[in-house]
Amino acid sequence: MKNYELRNGVSIPEIGYGTWKTPDGETCEKAVETAIRLGYHHIDAARVYGNEESVGIGIKNSGIAREELFLTGKVWNSDRGYGRTIRAFEKTLKDLQTDYLDLYLIHWPASPNQYRCWEALNRETWEALTDLYKSGKVRAIGVSNFRRNHLTPLLDAEVIPMVNQLELHPGMVQADIVSLCREHQILLEAYSPLGNGKLLNSEELSGMAEHYGKTPAQICIKWNLQHGFLPLSKSVNEDRMRANLEVEDFGITEEDMRKLDVLEGFADGNDPDKVPF
Ligand code: A2P
Repeated sequence: MKNYELRNGVSIPEIGYGTWKTPDGETCEKAVETAIRLGYHHIDAARVYGNEESVGIGIKNSGIAREELFLTGKVWNSDRGYGRTIRAFEKTLKDLQTDYLDLYLIHWPASPNQYRCWEALNRETWEALTDLYKSGKVRAIGVSNFRRNHLTPLLDAEVIPMVNQLELHPGMVQADIVSLCREHQILLEAYSPLGNGKLLNSEELSGMAEHYGKTPAQICIKWNLQHGFLPLSKSVNEDRMRANLEVEDFGITEEDMRKLDVLEGFADGNDPDKVPF
């Protein structure tokens, strides 16, 4: 698999394996082990997914050497602030059975709709990530679900985010924050690259997939890669996991990319200024 390179020179495999909604326990353990065996060497985890221990067991059972793996974690909203973030990070390391992470993200910004001091809270959480980075416990740091208003205050920090993980898929292009991230060499990771699976029911997408001799899921993953996004593909099914990696043997035309950009009815992502959590 090819890699993207982060602003600090760290390589990151261009497709990640997502663990959001993967049921904790045996399903997750087996899925992660299988994914690694199939060639997913980039695992995207998070404390709030409630399955970090299972992810850790799956990694261990795969037998992969730690340095072959790119492992991401995220600090959850209830752990914002300097001290809590450091403690949450340590717990994540323990549950994932590792002594460092490759990438650590702020999962959601504290927003002006929730807190009067939202900006200070984000800065404090960011300072904790910066110190973890400077101490070598994490190789890269970033954010997730940050829009322009949340990201801008961090752009004058000592270390600026290297990644922003957003919901990105055909019909959901988030043009404003994507262009800001590009200006600052912030890699865009795409969660829900299949639109939470809903895109698979799109007639337009199915027609296009047939034309390319690929599946709708492969078209979505390729659309992400051609935009320079890093898709976090997730499936617990071995055949679908394998198929989601088979995207190197074709290209989507510019014209079809534009059609996919504006697919209607799929842009329903959570607004970080309105979420109740
Ligand atoms: P499953 O785990 O049963 O394969 P998204 O990443 O956009 O949130 O979508 C994830 C959903 O899409 C999951 O429910 C997953 O279910 C399903 N999925 C993943 N890959 C494929 C595929 N190649 N074909 C059909 N469904 C898929």
